[in-house]
Amino acid sequence: MPEMENPKRPIWMAPDSRAVFIIDQRKLPQQMVIAALTTVDDVIYAITELMVRGAPLIGVTGAYGLYVAAGNTPGDFPSNEYLAREALRIKAARPTAVNLEWAVDRTLAVVLSENTAKGRIDAARREAAAIAEEEAENSRNIGRYGLALIERLSREKKGAPVNILTHCNAGRLACIERGTATAPIYAAHEKGIDVHVWVDETRPLNQGSRLTAWELGMENIPHTVIADNTGGHLMQQGMVDIVIVGSDRSTLTGDVANKIGTYLKALAAHDNNVPFYVALPSSTFDRQIRDGVADIPIELRDPDEVRYMPGFEKTGGSLLVPENSPAANYAFDVTPARLVTGFITERGVCPAEEAAIRAILDEKP
Ligand code: MRU
Repeated sequence: MPEMENPKRPIWMAPDSRAVFIIDQRKLPQQMVIAALTTVDDVIYAITELMVRGAPLIGVTGAYGLYVAAGNTPGDFPSNEYLAREALRIKAARPTAVNLEWAVDRTLAVVLSENTAKGRIDAARREAAAIAEEEAENSRNIGRYGLALIERLSREKKGAPVNILTHCNAGRLACIERGTATAPIYAAHEKGIDVHVWVDETRPLNQGSRLTAWELGMENIPHTVIADNTGGHLMQQGMVDIVIVGSDRSTLTGDVANKIGTYLKALAAHDNNVPFYVALPSSTFDRQIRDGVADIPIELRDPDEVRYMPGFEKTGGSLLVPENSPAANYAFDVTPARLVTGFITERGVCPAEEAAIRAILDEKP
């Protein structure tokens, strides 16, 4: 696998290549490894194994998966049946982030309206690229709207640092540019507002300590990595002014699925009157279900991700538990709307209430 300088985006295509290129996020922050996805199996593997991850990026990768499928058709023409089958396989790669099915279905609809092989391949590539551009624009707007919240806290604190707690990685690696939860932080930092970020390590795969800390460090944004169970203590001590997290799937009723452990942070925030905001693009809202706790599918991953601490360099992983102890690896949890202060979307900020969410998304009741 080639190594290279830090690319601007976590996914891209080169003009002279049919491959889709990604940053292999499993290797960060130790190594910047670029992988080329040339088959649908490559795409599915990259999503399943978290080479790419984060709801908006999973969606964009799935959309490019259809481009790869169209280009690899077994006959001369990528038929409706073949593309629908490949779309289903891609959508099954990870269950919780609704962006995956949203982006694949959107791309499939456009591809099927073309009648030539070239038309279908070009349409898939164009649509995937369009979704990527939209998500980049969404992140910029989430940053713009979320900035107002941080500015207000900074004014209330008379310019003392605003302490923001975040969980997992809802940064540019999870999106296309600037992230969701991190976008308002970047905007505040660029405006000269004093911010400091508490970064949950986010066991078992450490997306916070490996990825969010790496991203913030590159922008010189003050931050401190904490063990996952630290947030409650910090909130009791008045050391957190606002929690901002991302989401993998949220309902129009305001329930939020995000990385496992998010719910506990929301409970602690509620108990300590700390505002708890969820930053997300409209592509992360599931319009079909109403009860997030009952109906959002929660991914159950390999227990060995909990049992072993991944090793870097050539050391392999370390076993953390007795050889025969089983482990359970629920990858996400659902925070009910009553614990969510509000949503920061690309269309503005709103409370976690159905009428307000529908109004901001322009969704009919
Ligand atoms: O398992 P992951 O790393 O894909 O989980 C990612 C998260 O939980 C993020 O917070 C979420 O996708 C929001 S990304 C803007």
